[in-house]
Amino acid sequence: MSQVTVSVPATSANLGPGFDCLGLALALYNRITFTAVPHPALTITVSGTDAANVATDKSNLVYQCAALIFEKAGQRPSGLHIHQENAIPVGSGLGSSSTAVLGGMLAANALIGGPFTPEQILHFAAEREGHPDNVAPALYGGLVLGIGHPRGLHIERFDLPDLKVVVILPDFHLLTREARAALPAQVSHADAIFNAARTPLVIRALQTADYTRLAIAMQDTLHQPYRIPLIPGMAGAFAAAQAAGAQGVALSGAGPSLIAFAPEGHVYIGEAVTAVFAQAGLNSRTWVLDVDHQGSCVEKPVSGA
Ligand code: HSE
Repeated sequence: MSQVTVSVPATSANLGPGFDCLGLALALYNRITFTAVPHPALTITVSGTDAANVATDKSNLVYQCAALIFEKAGQRPSGLHIHQENAIPVGSGLGSSSTAVLGGMLAANALIGGPFTPEQILHFAAEREGHPDNVAPALYGGLVLGIGHPRGLHIERFDLPDLKVVVILPDFHLLTREARAALPAQVSHADAIFNAARTPLVIRALQTADYTRLAIAMQDTLHQPYRIPLIPGMAGAFAAAQAAGAQGVALSGAGPSLIAFAPEGHVYIGEAVTAVFAQAGLNSRTWVLDVDHQGSCVEKPVSGA
């Protein structure tokens, strides 16, 4: 029997202008343990946040992504027990599906002796997700820019100072698929330039913890204007976060959570945003989180009899 545990951080994709290419790892983790068993069986158990919303049959995303790796490698354990210990809410804009995709692939790879490099796993995970802005920071930690090109994936990772963010998640169901369907097929040059100019400034501002720069940089014309109206209270939530002292405010990923950056006053910002969602009839959950600098960790496989 052998066992491997992988922990994968939450991620906040886009960060305003960096649509589908920029993402930040946050210190909130899902842990996935694979135990190879000698008889042909699959069992899946899930504990922690939103555990009841995670499938425990073959449609489970962790299992599906593990199966892809076993198939590519041409080897698999006789049987498998998967345990997911989740801290990241499902469908929140905090990359929970990326933790399942990447975690499932990393755990499967480690369990069969690591035939694939982390870069290859990232490539498979980004292909499965359709964009690298969650899986790349989930693998490497910190702030990551991911660019797909004809020969593969180009990744730039930026070390950040210790920063804290506040994330507020309204109790509202918004599928990424729906949030993507709300986007126009074409955008104007002016909007493209607006974002192109700001994306490098987000990177620079976060690297230098420069909140004045961040206030200019963290604006977007490509996706947020179309998505904010889908979420009750979200326009007011942006305004309330800014009024409470947040200097960078963005939808986290495709939403429905909001991420706000400030040097201090995170709890106060969280309370201000919570009050706005409450007025719109929505409960919400708040996290004050550090940036994760380490990315995914694969704990050494434990071999038994
Ligand atoms: N970049 C993606 C989006 C993140 O905004 O749709 C969510 O998967």
